Amino acid sequence: MTLKVSVRGQIPPFIVMDVMRAANERAASGADVLHLEVGQPSTGAPKGVIAAASAALRDDTLGYTDALGIPPLRSAIARHYRDRYGIDLDPERVVVTTGSSGAFLLAFLAAFDAGDRVGLATPAYPAYRNILRALDLEPVALEAGAAERYQATVDLLRRAPQPLDGLVVASPANPTGTMLAPEELAALARYCEASGIRLVSDEIYHGITYGPQEASALASSDEAIVVNSFSKYFSMTGWRLGWMVVPRPLLRAVECIAQNFFISPPAISQHAAVAAFECHDELAGNVRRYAENRALLLRELPKAGFDRLAPADGAFYLYADVAHLTNDSQEFCRRILRELGIALTPGVDFDPARGHRTLRISFAGSTATMAEAARRLQAWRR
Ligand SMILES: Cc1ncc(COP(=O)(O)O)c(C=O)c1O
Repeated sequence: MTLKVSVRGQIPPFIVMDVMRAANERAASGADVLHLEVGQPSTGAPKGVIAAASAALRDDTLGYTDALGIPPLRSAIARHYRDRYGIDLDPERVVVTTGSSGAFLLAFLAAFDAGDRVGLATPAYPAYRNILRALDLEPVALEAGAAERYQATVDLLRRAPQPLDGLVVASPANPTGTMLAPEELAALARYCEASGIRLVSDEIYHGITYGPQEASALASSDEAIVVNSFSKYFSMTGWRLGWMVVPRPLLRAVECIAQNFFISPPAISQHAAVAAFECHDELAGNVRRYAENRALLLRELPKAGFDRLAPADGAFYLYADVAHLTNDSQEFCRRILRELGIALTPGVDFDPARGHRTLRISFAGSTATMAEAARRLQAWRR
């Protein structure tokens, strides 16, 4: 007898992970591959973090921790809000999670019931949509275009076909790198609060910006759930550590779900991450490299015909409209990998409706990798 696979388990893949696997298989067979697909820093954790991890390995039993995280890390994160944003935050509201991915699961479970409708401006990070589906929540695509800088607006919310229970925003965003101005984020937060919409603000790319200053939703609303991570700016992707700032009425629900789902976030990563907030000099060097990569690609990609790019103010992505080159971004990316050895992510990962004409380029790698990718693309299109 064939036993079933649950309906909720049948969510689409996270396509970039499939692309990364294909690129790695190609590399394992001896071909050279330039990784411009995956959104992870090519640098390791900062030196201070490694030293703190070594000390924890030596001195600590590394057992389960409190489900909400170790107190020194929760306090360090609360201090980060004071130092970076001038916000006074009670460490009690900080919840340490297994990456921001773990935070989304906890946030969605604590804030929404099956059938609730959660808005997302598309193109969007695919896991929002897929996690929501797996939890029997309904993702509602708010189709944003260049006029909205691919971000949610109060107007798009007003025009949503039915009332929403939640809204996820990200600034800077993946895949476009576009940002909400502080006053736009504040307006969204006010509108959500007044309309009974739970705002979830993904602030994972804070710290990686190229001019505009990022604002936290925490400055505008005590009802917003703020999500962040050590994976991007802090360059600790595989340490699987993130955090969220939770409205007080949701705290106990989040705690109970975290206890039962995860028991605790990884202990060694937590001990190490306390030191991350002392490593800004080293981390600023990474951001300088991203800025250099961005400038190089903005200069060189148009020469290869990739000249319709979203205005990326932050993160480490360029989102390219390639409608003049293909109407099948998946096949186009496969061809670029096959013929040029460059791994890119097709836009369908981020926007199932319109993404067959777009692709995402990650410039988190080395500047030499970006220069070589641009050279190959230019030679290919000549
Ligand atoms: C916008 C966004 N949010 C969340 C995540 C998940 O990151 P993590 O679970 O490593 O914190 C990513 C990863 O690429 C992302 O781009």
